[in-house]
Amino acid sequence: MENQEQQEFYPMPRIGDQAPDFTAMTTKGQIKFSDYAKDKWIVLFSHPADFTPVCTTEMSGFAQRKKEFDELNTELVGLSIDSIHAHLGWVSNVKEKTGVYFDFPIIADLDMKVSKLYGMLQPNEAETAAVRAVFFIDPSKKIRLIMYYPLNVGRNMDEILRALKALQTTDKYKVALPLDWKPGDKVIVPPPKTLDEMEARNKETGIERIDFYLSKKDLKV
Ligand code: BEZ
Repeated sequence: MENQEQQEFYPMPRIGDQAPDFTAMTTKGQIKFSDYAKDKWIVLFSHPADFTPVCTTEMSGFAQRKKEFDELNTELVGLSIDSIHAHLGWVSNVKEKTGVYFDFPIIADLDMKVSKLYGMLQPNEAETAAVRAVFFIDPSKKIRLIMYYPLNVGRNMDEILRALKALQTTDKYKVALPLDWKPGDKVIVPPPKTLDEMEARNKETGIERIDFYLSKKDLKV
C-alpha cells in the first residue's frame, strides 16, 4: 500500500477474546455465529480466493480430514471474499475433478465484514483478499489460538489438528504441553511455587525431572 497514512486499520482479535459475532451467508445457508454449533469447538478459517491452487489444496485438506474434526467435537467454517455463486461453482468443480466435497459452510464475505472483524484482511499483504487465518474457538465462543499465514504459503493440516488436540487436552487435564507435544507424549508438571514444594519436587519419583522447574509426566487418561 503506497500511502500508509490513509491505510485503514482493522481490529485484530486476540487470544482470550470472545469471538466477534456476525451473521453471514454461507454455502449451507445463513448463520448467526453466536448461535452456531453451540457446545462445540469451531475452526474458523479463511482463504484468499476460490479457484486458486493453494486454496484448493487447503480446502481439500480440511474436507478430507473433516471426520477427524468431527471426532474432536469441532465444526469447520471456511471464508473468503467471494460470492456464494463462486463458492458453489468451486465446490462443484473440485468435486467433479477430484471427488473431494467441501461439506462444511463457507462464508461468502463479499462485503468483507467478517474478514475485517477477524483481522483477516491485512492490507499490506492483500487489500481485497483474506490472508490464510485459522481461529480456534472453544464451546464458550472464546478465541483460544490464532494462526495467520500469507497468501503464498499453505497451512499444515497435521499442525492444525495437533493444536486443536493440544487445546482440548489442556482444558481436560489442566496441564501445559511442551514443544512438539502430540497425544501420548509426556506433559509438563506445574512448577512448584514454594521452597517446600520445590524440595518435594526434587524427591518426587515417577516423573521425568530435568530440574525443579522443568519436569514431565505421563498423562493418566
Ligand atoms: C492460491 O491459493 O494459490 C493463491 C491465492 C491467492 C494468492 C496467491 C495464491
